[in-house]
Amino acid sequence: MDAVANRMERLTDVASAKKQKFEEILKPLYLGEDKIKRLMDVMEEQMKLATSKDENTRKKSDILMAVTHVRCLLQGGENGDYLGLDLGGTNFRVVRVQLKDGMASTTTKYYTLTEQVLSGPCAGVFDFIAESIKDFLQQENLINSDSKIPLGFTFSFPSTQLALNSAILLTWTKSFKCPDGVGSDSVQLLEQAIARKAPGLPVDIVAVMSDTTSTLMAGNYLDKKCRIGVILGTGSNAAFVEHLENIEKYGGDFKEPKQVLVNVEWGCMGDSGCLDFYKTEFEKEIDQHSNHVNSFTFEKSFAGMYLGEFVRLVLVKLTNEGVLFNGHVTEELATRWKFTSGFVTKIDSDKDKETTNTRNILEKLNLSTASDEDIAIVREVCDFVVQRASYIVAAALAVLIRHVNLPEVTVAIDGSLYEHHPKFHNYMMELISQLNLHTQVKLILAKDGSGQGAAFAAVAALRQIEENIVSA
Ligand code: GLC
Repeated sequence: MDAVANRMERLTDVASAKKQKFEEILKPLYLGEDKIKRLMDVMEEQMKLATSKDENTRKKSDILMAVTHVRCLLQGGENGDYLGLDLGGTNFRVVRVQLKDGMASTTTKYYTLTEQVLSGPCAGVFDFIAESIKDFLQQENLINSDSKIPLGFTFSFPSTQLALNSAILLTWTKSFKCPDGVGSDSVQLLEQAIARKAPGLPVDIVAVMSDTTSTLMAGNYLDKKCRIGVILGTGSNAAFVEHLENIEKYGGDFKEPKQVLVNVEWGCMGDSGCLDFYKTEFEKEIDQHSNHVNSFTFEKSFAGMYLGEFVRLVLVKLTNEGVLFNGHVTEELATRWKFTSGFVTKIDSDKDKETTNTRNILEKLNLSTASDEDIAIVREVCDFVVQRASYIVAAALAVLIRHVNLPEVTVAIDGSLYEHHPKFHNYMMELISQLNLHTQVKLILAKDGSGQGAAFAAVAALRQIEENIVSA
């Protein structure tokens, strides 16, 4: 990771008193080799605890390591019509995947959830989904289909998976603040909503999964070496293909394929304090003002929902200390969550001496009088926060890569942060290559993978049912 000193060298035209303050404020953000190594050790330990046979040991882990029950990947050559749903971010998606000899053609429609639905009773969320599926089936002329269309449901919230098509919600996360729903089965909630809002809809919900699982499925369709799926969007999480014998708590059959997809749920790592060694005052403040206080610690260091706020807090501190904007914090800059990760992406998209994007963003914050010096510092802060964020997520990913233990591994990544940020990919690769993992690693974008992948999981689910492959 670029040390603060290197960053200061780049700020050639900034007065030295300001540089000193800059160094003081940004130094705690620096993650050296020791902290990266410690983060990887923590992750390894958390994974071990979470897969233990003993329930009390499992409780010591912050992460879930949920056994998804998905055992099969696409084989190639599949045929048929399948549906995928993707609920987790602000956009809800319905996807139709038509498979012909293993080749998929995909149609997607987006539906936007309102703030009111996101914080109202969860029946509202599921009614919205039911009505959207109905609208989509009408559009696709499938509404009067004679046979039920197999459907995979990406439901990206921590859940206890009971079967391929049964998962109990443990907590809402990200922008979802429904007062109820926890403890209920998301598939049943959807079936009830369909019965209320669109009775007789010709769908059969055969699989429910996290977006990481569906992204992995989609990635594996693109590249057979794909064994890991990662989400780097509003929230963050990962799933990987694990050998059955490595999961002590696994209680299903050991038929071929002797593997199962495991949903790590790494977002909540650190909730017990095991990541306090790298947390800064900025992460603590983000947490205090977040929807879910004292939880999802890991995610708050780098996921899209928080990254902009992280940068904003650093900028406010630098301004209050007189390093930026003549010490004047505008009302816009002072407003929590106003600085989005989309802003960070835009600023980091300015190449070399370009400043257009940065100036545009600063204008939105009523900072159009920013000096060249301010611009240079703002850009340096964004780059620093992003490099740190990429390193943190890459360190956790490296542990999964080590675990998969193959000479070549492809990682499928979906999410707006990874897709749009110009440097996230390179910074992640930078750390991965520094770690000498003895694995050739490829990171690929699986755009909108979670919708398409949900449909692929439906294919896998049907095959498992047919071949009586059971995971418990
Ligand atoms: C949050 C959710 C998790 C999901 C991730 C990415 O961390 O808890 O289930 O996979 O966001 O969307």
